[in-house]
Amino acid sequence: MLLTEIDHVAIAVFDLEAAVSFYETAFGATVEHREVVDSDGVEEALLKVADSYIQLTAATHDESPIAKYLAKRGEGIHHVGYRVDDCAVALQSMVAAGAKPIDEAPRPGSRGTTVAFVHPKGAFGTLIELVQE
Ligand code: CO
Repeated sequence: MLLTEIDHVAIAVFDLEAAVSFYETAFGATVEHREVVDSDGVEEALLKVADSYIQLTAATHDESPIAKYLAKRGEGIHHVGYRVDDCAVALQSMVAAGAKPIDEAPRPGSRGTTVAFVHPKGAFGTLIELVQE
């Protein structure tokens, strides 16, 4: 079994402050990590739940993939991050199983992680991010 944890559930939102405030009020959640990822055009707020995260994600500019997603589909679950010990091995295994990579090779993600995205087509309609800590 290559998956070791659900690393995060990523939720695309228009207003990051409003979403954080909602999670704080509704659940008593606190933001453990916040980061602007320029290469992806996103700002993330990570709320820790046991050893996983809820990742609230907003766009930092109009050309961001998250901005396009929000414009097309509105707010909601954007992708699921699966934690793995070795991102390259997991990516190779997914491709061997018929999935289509978005990232041909692992690359830097937020929190100092190494990540690779895999296309929803070929993965039963779910955008999957492999996350190696
Ligand atoms: Co993610």
